[in-house]
Amino acid sequence: MSGEPRCLQISPIRNGTVIDHITPGEAFNVLRILGITGTTEERLSVATNVVSRKSERKDIVKIENRELRKQEVDRIALIAPNATINIIRNYLVCDKKGVEIPEILRGVIRCPNPGCITNTREPVQSRFEVTAKGLHCLYCDWYLTEDIAGHII
Ligand code: CTP
Ligand code: ZN
Repeated sequence: MSGEPRCLQISPIRNGTVIDHITPGEAFNVLRILGITGTTEERLSVATNVVSRKSERKDIVKIENRELRKQEVDRIALIAPNATINIIRNYLVCDKKGVEIPEILRGVIRCPNPGCITNTREPVQSRFEVTAKGLHCLYCDWYLTEDIAGHII
């Protein structure tokens, strides 16, 4: 045991979404995916690098009165593949799902290659396939292996 006290770090919520088991340090990237930056009206709790039951570290984001769209969950999967999405209604966890990285990402990633057709004025939506070597641009063959969070549209 690390000797750190285990205490309730953030209060339960009544209605909304708890994104749990986020890769430690990624909570603010999750918020950016959800369009939450700067001044906000959302009622949020964020905890970063807290000790979880398995004594690993994790981040947590709680958002009241909001449920996530599939395209948001798919983006979160890219930076927090072990995240759990809990839907809370009247204080109860009424749905709990893991996230899954789709095989093909359409309009999700900005290609780092400035010469890629998806970075021109052409109305072409980016398309990447998820491979063991990284995210592969199906237009210019580029492999994105670093800073995936920074390339999410
Ligand atoms: N939670 C919350 N408000 C509620 C109910 C739950 O903020 N009214 C949070 C809990 O603090 C936890 C997450 O939602 O972070 C999932 O709750 P629960 O399934 O009860 O916790 P665990 O069993 O620990 O979840 P897991 O097995 O996914 O780790
Ligand atoms: Zn490309």
